[in-house]
Amino acid sequence: MAGPENIPQNETPVPRADGPAGLSILKGLARDRSLLTAMAAMQKELGNIFQITMPRFQPVVVAGPELNRQLLVTDRDKFSWRGDNDPVVKLLRHGLLVEDGEEHDRLRACMEPAMRRTPSLEHIPAMIRYTDQVLDSWPDEGEVDVLVEMRKVALLILLGTLFGTDFTPDMAGLWKPVLKAIQYISPGPWILWPDMPRPGYKADLEKLDSYLYTLIRRRREDGGPEDDLLGRLLSAPDMDDDLIRDQMLTMLIAGHDTSTALLAWVLYLLGEHQEVMAQVEDELGVQRLEGGIREAVLFSEDSVEIEKALTRLTGLDMVIKETLRLFPPIHVGNRFAKENLDLQGYSVSEETRVMVSIYLSHRDEVVWEEPEQFCPRRFERHQKVAGAEPDRQRPPLAYIPFGGGPRNCIGATFAQIESKVVLARILQQFELKLSPGQKVRPHMGATLEPRPGVKMIVKRRIGNGKQ
Ligand code: HEM
Repeated sequence: MAGPENIPQNETPVPRADGPAGLSILKGLARDRSLLTAMAAMQKELGNIFQITMPRFQPVVVAGPELNRQLLVTDRDKFSWRGDNDPVVKLLRHGLLVEDGEEHDRLRACMEPAMRRTPSLEHIPAMIRYTDQVLDSWPDEGEVDVLVEMRKVALLILLGTLFGTDFTPDMAGLWKPVLKAIQYISPGPWILWPDMPRPGYKADLEKLDSYLYTLIRRRREDGGPEDDLLGRLLSAPDMDDDLIRDQMLTMLIAGHDTSTALLAWVLYLLGEHQEVMAQVEDELGVQRLEGGIREAVLFSEDSVEIEKALTRLTGLDMVIKETLRLFPPIHVGNRFAKENLDLQGYSVSEETRVMVSIYLSHRDEVVWEEPEQFCPRRFERHQKVAGAEPDRQRPPLAYIPFGGGPRNCIGATFAQIESKVVLARILQQFELKLSPGQKVRPHMGATLEPRPGVKMIVKRRIGNGKQ
């Protein structure tokens, strides 16, 4: 791993998080044992570029619009994704997320049409159906852990829409393998010792693989839509079953764990801010539900009508955006410098790990007013309202919940539609309050997830048209 001794001579080295800065970082760590708090402390002391100096782990961390632009857009080709020893690469092999260069662009071009706005809108009825299926299993009044429940919803939607497969009968059997796959790629001591043995995963990961190969075989035998994601992968040239498995696993993991975290965080924040919850409920017309949910926004089976209804949900949209700002499910983008380079005046040597911190970018005091506060209205000026003032203070790439540049999130449109639909359905059918006395904190797993979960007291609304 590149150390400071490799930094080219006569150039400004990246500020290092040791000395007095290191002390305040340690204090941050001691306060809540969170690397996020520590990194926020480093940003305060050292600015938007600094180097973490832990034994065996010395990444350069960058945040803020200029550095984000350089890493994700202008100098994108000067970085590679990750080394072969990275657990994400070991799991996803040749998946879109981990490929570089021409192969990345080829895979992206193959899958991208299935992820555009029009096909994503066509998935809305299925999104509604799968959400309702999970909601039907909730008690009329009682406690649920919405982190678990949102994972069920996200898995059903992902497999149902992109692979044309109803995951219901397989969910129980594959729940543990899915969680194991996520655990396999979550940060752990293997970041420092990439060759360390990882017992306890093989059987579960093989079970997941075997399921995906079965889906491929079945689709080949039984046929099915040619334009959903699986159909596109199957009809693409130079795509064998192993490569298709890699893309499916990539989309399955990247596409459901992120949505799970986002949905759970939104419900948590709405639970904490009941006044915002009331505004969103009002927008969704839940007070008008005495006649049954059929009259409420979003019930129509017509996707054009639903799309119109979705665009009108500006309050919910702002809540989702603000949640993605405060708790971006992908809180960091990892890259490796392919050559010695200059990052906004600081020299970074070849092979250095550079981490684009989405979390710190979203809490940059230069860009955000009171960044720690949950304030959905800060996105008001970004709504496409006639005569609205453009926000001069927020430069491009200051807000990057879905990354930026050519490697941005392929599922961004899908995820934004999905989150609105799912949340609308939940809030229309249930009143939700946080269960008292729980301490929820962001945990750096594969995504930034609310741990240990989000327990909520739910109460089914009367007259939801389902009795
Ligand atoms: C709230 C939901 C989501 C968030 C916050 C999110 C966030 C991100 C971010 C930040 C990146 C860029 C990472 C980097 O630059 O290193 C990314 C890439 C990616 N995302 Fe998402 N994502 C979400 C949902 C989805 C969904 C629904 C899918 C697929 C169904 C998906 C699949 C991917 C893939 C395959 C990439 C890699 C793209 C490439 O390298 O070309 N994501 N996502």
